[in-house]
Amino acid sequence: MKLLAFLMQTGGHIAGWRHSGAAADALCDIDYFRSLAQTAERGLFDGVFLADSVGYAPVKGAEIFACLETPKLDPALVLSTIAAVTKHIGLIGTASTTYCQPYELARRFATLDHLSHGRAGWNIVTSTMENEAHNFGREAHMDHGARYERAAEFVDVARKLWDSWQDGAVLADKDRGHYTDPARISAINHAGDHFKVAGPLNVPRGPQGHPVLVQAGASATGQRFAASCAEVIFTSHPGIETAKAFRAAMHKQIAEFGRSPETLKIMPAMTPVIGATRADAEALQRALDSLIPTSIAISKLGALLGNIDLSGADHDAPLAPLPEAALAGQNSTRDRVLELAEREKLPLAELARRVAAGRTGRTIVGTAEDVADELQAWVEEGAADGFVISPPVLPAGLETFVDGVVPILQARGAFRKAYEGATLRENLGLQRPANMYETNPALIEKPEVW
Ligand SMILES: Cc1cc2nc3c(=O)[nH]c(=O)nc-3n(C[C@H](O)[C@H](O)[C@H](O)COP(=O)(O)O)c2cc1C
Repeated sequence: MKLLAFLMQTGGHIAGWRHSGAAADALCDIDYFRSLAQTAERGLFDGVFLADSVGYAPVKGAEIFACLETPKLDPALVLSTIAAVTKHIGLIGTASTTYCQPYELARRFATLDHLSHGRAGWNIVTSTMENEAHNFGREAHMDHGARYERAAEFVDVARKLWDSWQDGAVLADKDRGHYTDPARISAINHAGDHFKVAGPLNVPRGPQGHPVLVQAGASATGQRFAASCAEVIFTSHPGIETAKAFRAAMHKQIAEFGRSPETLKIMPAMTPVIGATRADAEALQRALDSLIPTSIAISKLGALLGNIDLSGADHDAPLAPLPEAALAGQNSTRDRVLELAEREKLPLAELARRVAAGRTGRTIVGTAEDVADELQAWVEEGAADGFVISPPVLPAGLETFVDGVVPILQARGAFRKAYEGATLRENLGLQRPANMYETNPALIEKPEVW
């Protein structure tokens, strides 16, 4: 079982920051993030994961409450300082293919891979919020299909850049006076629809070759993109049945790209709400939910449905059908919420609280034993290769997981007792990718020099 710790601010629950176990004033304090990563490393997690967006992101009507979305430090910088105080744990940061350039991003992750001795991972996102566009000179967000076309070309360019230095390109031969071996450094001369990049990169290939590539596309287009390149897929499912079907479908899709199941780790997000007894865990969940003001929950629900104004809606009645225009286009988050609304027919305020609390995915409420049972069952039944653990409150929820759930999994032989490898790839059981220029020397082109 592979485990990643989702370091989502003060925890994944929208009101988690108000709980006594949350470090609500520490979100710009690097010691907070370092200490979370050290806790996860104590629990032998494969990696930590930092989400990101490139905009001030509170939901309209919930600005006063927003802690999940902001403040948000730059993930790569946070991860680089975590690298300095940890030895084994992987460092997965989010960066957008819509708002970055491949050269600067490939360089940033190659740098992180070097300075962490092979622990970097990149969560590839195409970005979903309109206000991110407004920070990058655009009037409107690029449409879904165009974002994924750009993402595909972006990853292609990044891979060429990471391969533009072959292993052994740095000679550092003091006697002969040869620092580099130019025969092992190639231009990439990429010219596509979105990018024109000469290369090579100015950073040698990292210990892992490429950082581990992570993706979380849920739409049909997003899944196809993930199938083409992702080595880890983040996903979210309310129960084991849809998770199993998703994993089987992804294995089919990667086969179309000539890939076998060992090249992909599918990791659903899981929220553990842990108590000494089940009653304690249920009480914790109730306490957290009671910290969400109803108006905030309704605003959040409206935002997740695609910016629908629900302020005038009846709080005691089920969600009314959405206008046709709101159902257009691919929006997997909206569809998941609608599915939940249809299935459970909850009064609007209750549905909103549940969705705002982040429970469209799976939340396990129970003892450490209950959590271990369910995680183990998902892996054994083929629903997951591991999990992105998203405690509702940080740091408390991560500590409870590490001290409570991890030892149970270890005692059952379901989780490691020591790190197997030196790099994130090795711990996840992923191969170091071959270098395309080494495999196919005909591709090598002399770089332009001045
Ligand atoms: C565990 C998890 C973490 C995610 N992290 C981010 C993130 O940090 N930034 C982001 O813009 N989107 C994030 N997403 C959203 C996905 O990248 C993706 O946009 C979403 O699942 C919708 O899929 P689609 O793009 O195929 O429509 C995350 C999704 C999941 C399940």
